[in-house]
Amino acid sequence: MSERIYIFDTTLRDGEQVQGCQLNSVEKVQVAKALEELGVDIIEAGFPISSPEDFKSVVSISQAVTEPVICALARAIPEDIDAAAESLKYAKRKRIQTGIGTSDFHIKYKFCSNREEILERAVKATRYARNLFDEVQFYCEDAGRTDNEYLARVIEAVIKAGATVINIPDTTGFCLPSEFGNKIRYLKEHVDGIDNVILSVHCHNDHGLATANTLQGMMYGARQADVTVNGIGERAGNTALEEIAMILKGRNELGFTTGIDTTRIYHTSRMVSSLMNMPVQPNKAIVGRNAFSHSSGIHQDGIIKMRETYEVIDPKDIGLGENSITLTARSGHAALKYRLAALNIELTKEELDLAYSKFLRLADVKMDITDDDILQICGINPVNINPIQLVFLRVVSGTGVQTRAHVRLSVHGKCRSAISLGNGPVDAAIKCVKIILGQKMMIRAFFIQAMDKGCDDIGKVHIQVEYDGNQYYGFAADTDIVKATVLAFINAANRFIE
Ligand code: KIV
Ligand code: ZN
Repeated sequence: MSERIYIFDTTLRDGEQVQGCQLNSVEKVQVAKALEELGVDIIEAGFPISSPEDFKSVVSISQAVTEPVICALARAIPEDIDAAAESLKYAKRKRIQTGIGTSDFHIKYKFCSNREEILERAVKATRYARNLFDEVQFYCEDAGRTDNEYLARVIEAVIKAGATVINIPDTTGFCLPSEFGNKIRYLKEHVDGIDNVILSVHCHNDHGLATANTLQGMMYGARQADVTVNGIGERAGNTALEEIAMILKGRNELGFTTGIDTTRIYHTSRMVSSLMNMPVQPNKAIVGRNAFSHSSGIHQDGIIKMRETYEVIDPKDIGLGENSITLTARSGHAALKYRLAALNIELTKEELDLAYSKFLRLADVKMDITDDDILQICGINPVNINPIQLVFLRVVSGTGVQTRAHVRLSVHGKCRSAISLGNGPVDAAIKCVKIILGQKMMIRAFFIQAMDKGCDDIGKVHIQVEYDGNQYYGFAADTDIVKATVLAFINAANRFIE
C-alpha cells in the first residue's frame, strides 16, 4: 500500500514573490484553477497582510476554487493572522500558515531576541491562530540551520498549542540530503505528539538540492511537500512540483502517491511560465523544451527502436504528444524516416537516400531542420502544411529615423503585405504580421537565446502567443533576430490559423 503525499503548492506565494513574476488577481485565479485541475491538495494563495492586492487575490481564489484547501501566510503576529482569517472567509476549506525564524541567525540578527522569547512568540501565535482556524500550519523559518534540539522544543510546544501541520523549511537551501533527512528523523524521534500532525518539508534550491532534500524528508516521515510549478521561487527557487510528482509516479518502490494528474503538468508549466514571464530553462527536468528532445544520431536511433532506451519518462504522462527528434547533421537515416512518417510522407529506398543526402547538405548550414525544410527536400510545397509563410521582410531602423517594417506573407498561397511603424524593429515587424492576419493575438512570452557567443551567432526565439483564450508556442532560429522573431510568431500562428 502506497502512502499519500500531500502536495502543498506555493507558486502563488513563494513563487510569485520573485521579482518580475507578479500577477494580478485575475491571473492568480487562472493559475489557481489550473492548480486545482492539476490536483494539488493545498494552494498557498498569498500573504494577505503584505498588500491590498495580495489580500484581494486570496479572497478571489477562495471564491473561485473549491477542491483544494486554500492557505494564507501570516507572520507570528496577531494583525497578520487576522488579515489571513479575513481574506479566507469565503474559502470552502482553509488553512493558515504562520511561523517564525528559529535559527540563531534569525533569532539574533533578524529579531534581536533570544530562543526563549521566540519560543513564547511561536506558542502565542499558534494559540491565536487556532482560535480562528481548524488547520494551523506552523513553519520554523530557516529550520535547515536551526539546532535540532531547540527545533524539537519549539515544535513540541506549538503542537501542544494547537498546530496541525508542522512545516520544516530549508529556507536557505543549505542542507545536504543526509542532513535534512536526519533532521526529520530526529524530530520524528524526539518530539512528543509529532505523529498526530502532518510533517511538511519546504526546500529551497540554492545548491540544486531542493528535490533531493524533499525526497529525503519523505523517506524519514514527511507527508507533505511544499513545491512550486517550474521550481520558481526566491533566488534559485523551490522544489519543483513536476519533479516530485514524476519521481513518485515513476518510482513505485518508494511507496508514495500523490493526487496529481500528471498529464496536466506540461500545460500548467507553460501557463505559469507565460503568465509570470518566466521562461523555463531549456534543459529543465520534466518541463524544459529539451527534456524529451533527442539530437544525437545514436540516441535518435535508439528512441525510434524503443522509446525506453533513452527515455525514463513517457512524455504522454506529462501531457506531451510524443518525444521530439531534433534533426541535425548528426541524425541518421532512421531519424529522417521517422520524421517523414510523422508528416505522412512515404518514400522508396532510393527517394529516401536522395532526401537524406539533401538533408545532410542543409543540416551542415542550418542548425534546426524544420518540417518545412523536410517538405521542401522532398519536393512538396510546404504551403500544404503551414498556411502562413514569410515571403519578404524589410526593416528600416536606426538613430534619427522612425522604425518602419514591410512584411509580405503567403497565406494559404495568396500574397499579402503590410507596412507599419513601430517601437523598434521587432515591434514594427510583428505589427505588420498582425495587420495581415487580422487576428487579435497577444505575445505573452518572448525569449531570445544566443546559440553561442559572438554577434554573428544564430539567435533562437521562443514566443508564446495568446489567441482566443489559448496559448500557442512558436519557435524559430536565424542569424537575423528580427527575422527569427517574425518566423517564431508565424510558427505560433500556424498552430491556430485555419
Ligand atoms: O522558505 C521559507 O522559510 C518559507 C516559509 C514562509 C515557509 O517560505
Ligand atoms: Zn520558502
